[in-house]
Amino acid sequence: MTTRTRILTGITTTGTPHLGNYAGAIRPAILASQDANADSFYFLADYHALIKCDDPQRIQRSRMEIAATWLAGGLDVNRVTFYRQSDIPEIPELTWLLTCVAAKGLLNRAHAYKASVDKNVETGEDPDAGITMGLYSYPVLMAADILMFNAHKVPVGRDQIQHVEMARDIGQRFNHLFGNGKEFFTMPEALIEESVATLPGLDGRKMSKSYDNTIPLFTSAKDMKDAISRIVTDSRAPGEAKDPDNSHLFTLFQAFATKAQEEEFRAELLQGLGWGEAKSRLFQLLDGQLGEARERYHQLMSRPSDMEDLLLIGAQKARAVAAPFLAELREAVGLRSFVNQAAAPVAAKKKAAKAARFVSFREDDGSFRFRLLSADGEQLLLSRNFADGKAAGAVTKQLQSGQTLDIRTEKYGFNVWLDGECVAESSAIYADAAQRDVGIDTLRVALTPTED
Ligand code: TRP
Repeated sequence: MTTRTRILTGITTTGTPHLGNYAGAIRPAILASQDANADSFYFLADYHALIKCDDPQRIQRSRMEIAATWLAGGLDVNRVTFYRQSDIPEIPELTWLLTCVAAKGLLNRAHAYKASVDKNVETGEDPDAGITMGLYSYPVLMAADILMFNAHKVPVGRDQIQHVEMARDIGQRFNHLFGNGKEFFTMPEALIEESVATLPGLDGRKMSKSYDNTIPLFTSAKDMKDAISRIVTDSRAPGEAKDPDNSHLFTLFQAFATKAQEEEFRAELLQGLGWGEAKSRLFQLLDGQLGEARERYHQLMSRPSDMEDLLLIGAQKARAVAAPFLAELREAVGLRSFVNQAAAPVAAKKKAAKAARFVSFREDDGSFRFRLLSADGEQLLLSRNFADGKAAGAVTKQLQSGQTLDIRTEKYGFNVWLDGECVAESSAIYADAAQRDVGIDTLRVALTPTED
């Protein structure tokens, strides 16, 4: 089985995406998600947004604008898991489990927090003035985002590298304390795309909301045109040769042009194309490339309930991964049911594991199936039909090998997957999600190999 690379990144929902965000993050992420080997998790980091912004209207608007931008930009929600962080209750729950192992000293070193403290000290304020626990714990929440889904690669800007390192640190500590030799969490790596364009803004500095030098992306053609007209250029008159390599207008053009378009534009500038003309070329180029997406954006914004539906489906997909994993983690730290066997300490766990057994049988049509029965005879699993006994046997063997089980919930039941195939289902349809999760726990325990 080839394991796909799980790529995960979050977008803090405090602003309106501009051209720089599009070229620097959105476009490359959408392209990366089209790779057959990529298993992409992209989400709106709206819990993180609350740390930076206490204006509900702005939070809400930004969440919608960012969702619409990614969708209009061509993100295929059937390929990727696209969701709102705040739709996944398992995230704050995991955040707490991680908070309890995260060293305070580690968080003291976080750049964003330190910068706030330094600023306070400089201005003679109390060091902690205006600093919330949200800001302080920001890296733990981000670690939960990443570790919840066992992401391999985390595409981020340079300012976020430290946070990914902290996620590794915290994840490792949890593995060490509760894993019993098992690695619950995959160690994530920050992915910094060197080749990706950092666009200059109107004044030539990096395009950024904080410099107020951005070119709007999808608001309207007119807004885009107006911003382009404000791009700072040198004072060479029409007819005078321009220097493309020292013009951020040219850099902006480059980021969206084909090689041929770029060469043509370069030649024209060298031949003395006026800046006014040059700006209108840039507008034509951007409008040609982004016009259709802008239409889609406005359609999406005018039908928020469609977006709501898409995001809820995304949340469901994400939770199908998060819920069973969190159940395992709760189990590991000792938050266990009083009634089911999973609640028992290690010795009883072994007994349960020993006593669980597979029973194979043949259907009338000649196909092979098996059941998994727990120690007390409760049926935990029923397999699908296999053409021959060997195939069924191979699956039971794999299930007992101790590999992490891929269990996917389906309403109040669940399925077990191996190598991209559903191989068995829960026999029971449980009364509710909690009962179902108990069933999953019992299954996991039954399939945990004994150590002796
Ligand atoms: N902190 C990130 C930023 O501001 C956003 C974010 C939140 C994130 N959770 C994440 C990025 C998890 C990557 C992975 O850019």
